Amino acid sequence: MQTVTPLTPLNHRPSWKALKAHHEQIGTKHLREFFADDPARGERYTAEAEGIFLDYSKNRIDDQTLKLLVQLAKESGLRERTEAMFLGEKINITEGRAVLHVALRAPKSESIVVDGEDVVPAVHAVLDKMSEFAERVRSGVWTGHTGKRIRNVVNIGIGGSDLGPVMAYEALKHYSQRDLTFRFVSNVDGSDFAEAVHDLDAAETLFLVASKTFTTQETMTNAHSAREWALAQFGGDEKAIAKHFVAISTNTKEVAKFGIDIENMFGFWDWVGGRYSMDSAIGLSTMVAIGPENFRAMLAGFHAMDVHFRTAPLEQNLPVLMGLLSVWYTDFFDAQTVAILPYEQYLKRFPAYLQQLTMESNGKHVTLDGTHVATQTGPIYWGEPGTNGQHSFYQLIHQGTRLIPCDFIGFYKTLNPVGRHHDMLMANVFAQAEALAFGKTAEAVKAEGVAEALIPHKVFEGNRPSNTILAECVSPAMLGKLVALYEHVVFTQGVIWSIDSFDQWGVELGKVLATRILGELESGEEPAGAHDSSTNRLIQRYRKNK
Ligand code: F6P
Repeated sequence: MQTVTPLTPLNHRPSWKALKAHHEQIGTKHLREFFADDPARGERYTAEAEGIFLDYSKNRIDDQTLKLLVQLAKESGLRERTEAMFLGEKINITEGRAVLHVALRAPKSESIVVDGEDVVPAVHAVLDKMSEFAERVRSGVWTGHTGKRIRNVVNIGIGGSDLGPVMAYEALKHYSQRDLTFRFVSNVDGSDFAEAVHDLDAAETLFLVASKTFTTQETMTNAHSAREWALAQFGGDEKAIAKHFVAISTNTKEVAKFGIDIENMFGFWDWVGGRYSMDSAIGLSTMVAIGPENFRAMLAGFHAMDVHFRTAPLEQNLPVLMGLLSVWYTDFFDAQTVAILPYEQYLKRFPAYLQQLTMESNGKHVTLDGTHVATQTGPIYWGEPGTNGQHSFYQLIHQGTRLIPCDFIGFYKTLNPVGRHHDMLMANVFAQAEALAFGKTAEAVKAEGVAEALIPHKVFEGNRPSNTILAECVSPAMLGKLVALYEHVVFTQGVIWSIDSFDQWGVELGKVLATRILGELESGEEPAGAHDSSTNRLIQRYRKNK
């Protein structure tokens, strides 16, 4: 790893100090006052790009906050770092890699050079290969070992090789080829695999083994089980594998070792992070589901947001604004989480997808120069679609003691116009954001004739911030824009915190220990008890009872 010249700690930057002083002045100001002082803020604190409208007026900010946050972005070198990413510089310094998910959606006419080679033609070559394959499966030209048409596609992967594909499949189901069944296996828990295939015929099933490294324990275990399951139905005929298994990976050697024909491998590159890979070959299941044309529309959506992020003024830049606002709450209000609340059933896996994107990226405790961070970093992202969440955890957001900034996501149009459902759904978006911001005072409760003793219980303090994002409807292009929006939110946050948003060393220790413990669980001899007393006892107990 290259040595990094010591960076100015975040809390020593002039804009940070100014923000601290500013927070002391306005930190407790209520959103009711913000709106009373500036009745037009609902019109002013908005931004729009690529069909995505952001209302950020229900945040605890004023013009000065915005000015200082933008200054912080400038002092932290956001523009320079963004350019470095787009130009293919090796900004993932701990792994010595470029960070080029933006190249995955670059048009053919662009050129992005890494280590002296333009990567854009290679990206398009893989896309063309994927398109050809997807068409063959969708049309029935690709048949299985017995000549039967493929009816089931099972993606085997985990983390970025699963969450993106599942989320995109669910999000774009409306656009999918309905005579194909899609399943996703990720967990090393055998129940995941067993349930995914229990009603499938191997002769009609195609497995997409998706793993950047092709060494991930869970994925390789599931892939081997799939191989055995298929071979059992094909009477052990190894020739069947080529027709029923394809690989998506950067590791040709391991793919060949598994027995998958290299012809049936779809590649990508080490400059694509796992959690940034749903628009690479990792998206093959998405492409088979929605077709190459829709997949390319999704890529165009991603690209449109990339261009916006790279070129729009910071003050009107959607990812920059959202990234800065989350830094404001994380570091000055001690907010520990961000709730993602899509009012769109098709986006039901979007919060889960964002968990990996945000937390694997920005859950870091040291800055690029290896010193301990001076402030809090990555907040916990979580959420569920509305209106379901309203009937489970919203109570805490409204009346609990924690500050939880929320992102509401809603659409003007539904893909399934059923009676009044959509207006009802959207009424809830606006109502929730309004209730969180303005609450209900004791006076208002009293005026309703509520008994004295009950009044405190019925008070809503309000002053709970939220963003509201509105867009046309769920479509491939819109999904691309939304994912790219959050990718660049994460990038913005990471630049402010001066962390490497593109490594994930924090997942390693558990993997190493699990490998060691597995041996102890399976050993014929009593293990030496080389762990702490808690772990030793748990291992003993499991061995006795399994
Ligand atoms: O959890 C760590 C991780 O490396 C993720 O970053 C990645 O998305 C996932 O594992 C799967 O990795 P692979 O695609 O190499 O199987």
